[in-house]
Amino acid sequence: MIRRIATMFAFVLTLVACGGDNSPVTGVATSGEDLFKRTVLGENAGCVTCHSLKEGVVLVGPPLAIIGADAGDRQAGVAAADYLRMSIVDPDNFVLDGFDPGRMPPDWAEQLSEADIEALVEYLLTLGAE
Ligand code: HEC
Repeated sequence: MIRRIATMFAFVLTLVACGGDNSPVTGVATSGEDLFKRTVLGENAGCVTCHSLKEGVVLVGPPLAIIGADAGDRQAGVAAADYLRMSIVDPDNFVLDGFDPGRMPPDWAEQLSEADIEALVEYLLTLGAE
């Protein structure tokens, strides 16, 4: 009986370890996803309160459903990761058509660590990427 319970336990552990997570988000981007989805981040409202992950769904800011694919085309000569980093730490530097400046909190560089910002950039790069 004890052995049977032990076998069952091992089986359940294996199931948990192999858990059905099909998300393409891996490594540092996983913590970026976690940060992105918090409703409160530092002393600010979290990213997800203003940015939907569904195309066409506008909350306060633009939806970011395919930002990983679009980021490299926003500004001539600015690579995707650089555009995303700038969008986070200095949001009014480039304001997307149809949106107003001054809405996105300007102080993420103080609210988040450098590693957090990097993780967010890595996560955003996965959105809509082939
Ligand atoms: C209070 C609302 C608000 C919050 C919170 C917010 N944003 Fe924004 N964000 C905006 C608005 C409005 C814009 C569009 C105007 C602009 O470019 O500044 C924007 C623009 C962006 C863009 C550029 C989008 C594009 O299509 O070019 C990115 C990337 C972005 N935000 C990421 C984030 C991340 C990551 C967080 C969390 C750390 C965050 N935002 C938190 C409102 C918000």
